[in-house]
Amino acid sequence: MDTMYWRDNSLYLLDQTRLPFEVTYVKLETYEQVAEAIKTMKVRGAPAIGAAAAYGMVLGALKYSGGAREFEQYLRKVYETLKSTRPTAVNLFWALERMWMRFQKVKNGTTEDVFTGLLAEAYAIFNEDVELNKRIGKYGLDVVPDNATILTHCNAGTLATAGYGTALGVVRAAYDAGKLKRVFADETRPLLQGARLTAFELLEEGIDVTLICDNMAGYVMSLGLVDLVVVGADRVTANGDVANKIGTYSLAILAKEHGIPFYVAAPYSTIDLNLTSGHDIPIEERNPDEVRKIGDRLIAPPQVKVFNPAFDVTPAKYITGIITDRGIVRPPYRENIKKLFGGE
Ligand code: MRU
Repeated sequence: MDTMYWRDNSLYLLDQTRLPFEVTYVKLETYEQVAEAIKTMKVRGAPAIGAAAAYGMVLGALKYSGGAREFEQYLRKVYETLKSTRPTAVNLFWALERMWMRFQKVKNGTTEDVFTGLLAEAYAIFNEDVELNKRIGKYGLDVVPDNATILTHCNAGTLATAGYGTALGVVRAAYDAGKLKRVFADETRPLLQGARLTAFELLEEGIDVTLICDNMAGYVMSLGLVDLVVVGADRVTANGDVANKIGTYSLAILAKEHGIPFYVAAPYSTIDLNLTSGHDIPIEERNPDEVRKIGDRLIAPPQVKVFNPAFDVTPAKYITGIITDRGIVRPPYRENIKKLFGGE
């Protein structure tokens, strides 16, 4: 199953708002449509958002009909529009920055040069991501005991990436190596990425998955049913703090209380060395109706006040290790994350 693909100068996105009941692709022909698809979470998951935005830049360039002199200013507007879609996952900004750098290299060429250059960069961002995830899976295998039960939150799988997944990349690698017994998937309210996407994705591959409500995780751990927790990340700061789907922080504390290793799986593109700690990460707040409703169905008084942060920050002290495409980083995180990027 492809999260997205490029064909005939259009981006086709698997509409994740319709999963698991309908597998449909939407055809996007403008950058505004891509921005809208990211905001409404037709595409979601940090690396997938980045790749979609990269293709959005290509569509922006492709549809330009003005004069040559205004092109750069126009493309900057495309960049800013895509950048303003979701604030927390750093992969979006990372991918757009790559696209902008590529544009700087090709901007003095022909229109064809610009288009070909941008498309090549978008392809590279997309294709590299699958490779990074496979490496995360390979490194992650080291921390998975035999006959393991892994608990995960949200969806950090194929659907959240260009393919294979980060946290579910570790799950896949463990499954392929014959080390996996079962997976517990948190349903992940309010938008149910665990129930709708992780359960769907793992069932498709014949991986043993058991769905639980978010508030069951503590009890499941207390029964001794979980060997390790593996989750994805939307942003990792220089000190090892991690922003991920709301509920991740509570899971980390529960895991610590029960002596269960808690791992975060993320590619280098999710690490933001510009931020010193998790306090600096912008946390997206979404429409209150996502909490008042499940799907289209109201489950609370329509006038009730709601707080709906889409992410939380797990302090580094709760994290056993961060499984990256360059190896597993362990405490002390500040030093070891720096080393990952070649710094002393
Ligand atoms: O709001 P979402 O569905 O985009 O949130 C997704 C997550 O929190 C994932 O865990 C994260 O992006 C990592 S995906 C490899």
